[in-house]
Amino acid sequence: MPSRNVMVMKGNFMNTFTRRGFLGASAAALALIHPAARAALEQHHGSATLASDHLLPLGAMPKGQHLSALSLLKNQSGTKGVFRARIVAKPMKLTVAARKATEFWLYNGHLPGPQIVAREGDTVEILFENQLPEPTTVHWHGLPVPPEQDGNPQDLVPPGGKRWYRFTLPEDCAGTYWYHPHPHGLTAMQVARGLAGTFVVLPKTPSKVEELVEQHWLISDLRLDAQAQIPNNTTVDWLNGREGHFVLINGQREPRIEINNRNRIRIWNACAARYLRLYIPGVDWQLLGTDGGLIDKPLVLGNELFLAPGERVEVIAHSQSAQQAPLVSHYYDRDKMMVEEPHTAITLAQVQHNAGEQAVLPAELREFPQLPKAQASQRVVFSEAPMEHHHMGGEMPRSELENMFFVNGRVYDPERMDLVSGVGEWEHWQLVNDSHMDHPFHLHGTQFLVTHREQNGKRTIEPMKAWRDTVNLKPNETVHILVRQTMLGVRMFHCHILEHEDLGMMANLHVITK
Ligand code: C2O
Ligand code: CU
Ligand code: CU
Repeated sequence: MPSRNVMVMKGNFMNTFTRRGFLGASAAALALIHPAARAALEQHHGSATLASDHLLPLGAMPKGQHLSALSLLKNQSGTKGVFRARIVAKPMKLTVAARKATEFWLYNGHLPGPQIVAREGDTVEILFENQLPEPTTVHWHGLPVPPEQDGNPQDLVPPGGKRWYRFTLPEDCAGTYWYHPHPHGLTAMQVARGLAGTFVVLPKTPSKVEELVEQHWLISDLRLDAQAQIPNNTTVDWLNGREGHFVLINGQREPRIEINNRNRIRIWNACAARYLRLYIPGVDWQLLGTDGGLIDKPLVLGNELFLAPGERVEVIAHSQSAQQAPLVSHYYDRDKMMVEEPHTAITLAQVQHNAGEQAVLPAELREFPQLPKAQASQRVVFSEAPMEHHHMGGEMPRSELENMFFVNGRVYDPERMDLVSGVGEWEHWQLVNDSHMDHPFHLHGTQFLVTHREQNGKRTIEPMKAWRDTVNLKPNETVHILVRQTMLGVRMFHCHILEHEDLGMMANLHVITK
């Protein structure tokens, strides 16, 4: 058996997983889900086993191949400034481990989904077809697209349905984005089955940084049972977020990667719940960009690179001399419920570092606007229901799980507007984590600036100016951001642990003319 990624349950918890799946939700619980998603959810019955001997051992997936480039989505348009293509989401069998075919749900048959590369100013037109057995949407995580084009949970594409997603990429949005499903209550399992792809926006006017050779690492995780199939979430997954035991880069297990000091590496944490603390012995990470593109000046981070679920970065991995070393992710203790696991690092890749000349970077990577005073302020509180004693040994019905994770004290309701913002107005948001676990906050439709953080009476000023759409909230931490929405309509903000999002740790922001 693999010695890592094996969950050790407290007490007799392990036994409970062979019972019926907890997704046979009560009527009350299903009422919280959008009606169109309900039927699909009801099909999710079935047992959900997690005991380590029911999982495929790590050795069943080949490792050590050269890192593949992400497959690209081909632009079908002949018109300059227009990116047009078709994306189909459908079940597909691929053999990735144990010489057994695994049924994935994929975008255009690719694991991960094909990468979209477009430029600021381009019009993007995607014909999307849902060939899944349940409703879905395509959400353009981080991109400033109009709300009705952003794959909101209210805009479901039914099974067999199609639609166009159309938007124009504004100035100054060059950055590292991704796309994934967003149907309320179904997002986590759709992503776990393989639906996620990357989206890179290039600048209209290239800077010095564009001369560096890019590498793209999409980090995701995958769980395969002994039959090499993707099992449903367990209670523990719903509570903590699902972490698959295979951690993959560009869909590959422990690939061989070759880098040097002049590579601009874009990294996506596309895991539903896994936090990454990336480390290569002998390497110092230098941060060039975050979710929404280049930061103000290059920033040396040291030997560890932290990425919460949903976050992206652009970095250079500096090494003094040529070397061969593993890329690992150190254990991150996020106080999971009902789980004890070894605090060991996991190996993600073998890195051949060719060192070489340092990149000559401009002192200023990007200009940031002079920030006006915030015209309004908002407070967002993430909290959890206390775990009751009788849960400590058993499985929880979906109805109970759907009453555990709150934003401002409430569970998500697609029809309810939780906060209201004036379009075009800068606001100061206080993001409060009033719980014992980490929760990554994510806001749709725009990029924000973190100004400072407070935890246990300690105030830390953000060391850089950076555009983000996702920021981790540590237990009992408050993160202060400046944010502005530029389009009218409804936006979501939520915890990007996808299981928490599905269980209702999400809220609607109504952007109006004030
Ligand atoms: Cu990446 Cu609302 O999500
Ligand atoms: Cu998003
Ligand atoms: Cu969460």
